[in-house]
Amino acid sequence: MASSKSSPPGFVFSILIIISFFNFITCNNQHILSSCNFDAIYQLGDSIADTGNDVQDNPSSKFARLPYGETFKKATGRCSDGLLMIDYIALSAGIPFLDPYLNKDGLFDYGLNFAFAGATAMSAEDLAKWNVSFVPTGISLSRQLDWMFSYFNTTCHGNKDCFKKNGKALFMVGEIGGNDYNYAFLQRKTIKEVKTMVPEVVETIKQATKVSFLLRNI
Ligand SMILES: *[C@@H]1O[C@H](CO)[C@@H](O)[C@H](O)[C@H]1NC(C)=O
Ligand SMILES: *[C@@H]1O[C@H](CO)[C@@H](O)[C@H](O)[C@H]1NC(C)=O
Repeated sequence: MASSKSSPPGFVFSILIIISFFNFITCNNQHILSSCNFDAIYQLGDSIADTGNDVQDNPSSKFARLPYGETFKKATGRCSDGLLMIDYIALSAGIPFLDPYLNKDGLFDYGLNFAFAGATAMSAEDLAKWNVSFVPTGISLSRQLDWMFSYFNTTCHGNKDCFKKNGKALFMVGEIGGNDYNYAFLQRKTIKEVKTMVPEVVETIKQATKVSFLLRNI
């Protein structure tokens, strides 16, 4: 009696777990972020998140040509044959792909992308203090924060209005910082030397994250 009473719920329970696990790995997780109700995404970063800023500045860049974008049958300015992590995050949140800030025809109704291929966390001046002088793009997190400031400065007015407009936005800071190390290695710095840069790179990213949080309410 006891066993016949306890076994059906146990059985149902395991089926439920299997079904929810099955759902999780099949369809539901594709839109898992939609339950967060984000209404916009703002992205800072480098080539891992750039959806076309670099090619706006450098139309002759190799990222503006196939095979980049080959799964779309056209190059999109992404340093990828297809989508980037931020595109999957946008899809999951139910938000259109982010247009790059430097695209003058971009549609920014659902946020935008400030990430720039080759960007560094630290500014060129700060990298120079580490004797890293080869900084090809010269675009750092502080430059992207300047862009973000200019953008919010023209699209919302005052704390209340900005919070109303940006309060449900997702702010993504990174991936960023990889190029600070890449450029140092390209200048033949040793792993030991590059390791000493890590705390300052991390601190720069932390500060940028705080500033982006403040900027949403400027
Ligand atoms: C940068 O280079 C100068 C001159 O070679 C050297 O004295 C200094 O220690 C270097 N600084 C760093 C952080 O590597
Ligand atoms: C921000 O916007 C105000 C008002 O339009 C303008 O006067 C100011 O110059 C802007 N600041 C920056 C740094 O763009």
